[in-house]
Amino acid sequence: MNSSHRVFRRNSRSLIDLAAAVAPGDTARAAVIAEHFRDYRAGLRNHHAAEDELLWPPLFSRVDPGADVMLRMRTQHERVEVGLLELDAAVPRWESAAGADERDTVVALLVDHRAVLLEHLDDEEATLLPLAAAYLTEPEWAALHGAQDRHATPPFH
Ligand SMILES: [Fe+2]
Repeated sequence: MNSSHRVFRRNSRSLIDLAAAVAPGDTARAAVIAEHFRDYRAGLRNHHAAEDELLWPPLFSRVDPGADVMLRMRTQHERVEVGLLELDAAVPRWESAAGADERDTVVALLVDHRAVLLEHLDDEEATLLPLAAAYLTEPEWAALHGAQDRHATPPFH
């Protein structure tokens, strides 16, 4: 499995668990988790932007995976982004006072986000990455991974 995908799978799970464990009113801990989220989402946005710019154009110029696959990938990236935008709004509302309701909203959005993300990663690994392995050149892989690694995030705790 793609190693950066493994990190996103792990960290999206960690964010759910860590946010759910923050006690109401513990603004210091909420701030730590909020910062983890911002690191995570910057990394994920960067990961997808690099695919949009450096993976899909050369790949789709050489091989046609089918209009349904291309549309599905685009739709999944958009759905991931929509969920992240909802979290961008909900996380600061939680962070300010660490309220229980606001925390629960963040946790629910993180759960939804992870479901959408995993659907996309599974699909991409099954349909696109084998094609990319066959059709992308070594310099293209290096450029893609170089761009994606710029915002790689360590494990959260
Ligand atoms: Fe993707």
